[in-house]
Amino acid sequence: MIVHPLTDDDLANRSDLLTRDDVELLVRSFYRYAAMDELLGPIFAAAHVAWDDHVATLTDFWAWQLLGERGYTGQPLRAHEPVQARTPFADAHYERWLDLFVSTVDEHFVGDIAELAKHRATKMASALRKLLNGEHGAANEPIELTFATSPAAPCASAPTTYGGKHGR
Ligand code: HEM
Repeated sequence: MIVHPLTDDDLANRSDLLTRDDVELLVRSFYRYAAMDELLGPIFAAAHVAWDDHVATLTDFWAWQLLGERGYTGQPLRAHEPVQARTPFADAHYERWLDLFVSTVDEHFVGDIAELAKHRATKMASALRKLLNGEHGAANEPIELTFATSPAAPCASAPTTYGGKHGR
């Protein structure tokens, strides 16, 4: 796993994740690391990921999760079923994905929304693991989502599920 050591200056200059540009920076940085990672890289390579499309989709996804912006209309957990059919996910993959995501958030951001990003990622990694391991009902587990009217109150959230269509 590649993680940049943070200097005191880096740490002092971080702020919270507040705009769509911030979300895109997080997404681009994370997938740059993921693509180069010795464990995760081969999964993305086998899936022939179109990176520009993937970054755009994931920016929509996280902008929805963290800023309450509507736009993402996919099925974030079920979308992994064909990926996992090609290259089975092991516990080490989920752990690496989460370690990398948390270190990327920490590398760039600090604050409530940065914490929310790590919390959401942890919940979804756990739901994804259950779904792909065939634990019944995992895709329909209610997990809170933001739909924030105010980034100041990111936890005032509407329950929904990760299994179905959403957006509009
Ligand atoms: C073992 C961990 C994971 C691996 C290896 C993985 C890998 C992948 C791959 C290969 C794709 C397909 C990309 C494409 O075809 O363009 C994908 C899509 C996606 N992943 Fe993951 N992923 C993991 C965990 C997660 C987690 C925990 C989340 C959420 C926090 C997540 C969110 C998404 C989303 C939103 C998409 C796009 C779905 C769509 O097309 O609408 N992934 N992932």
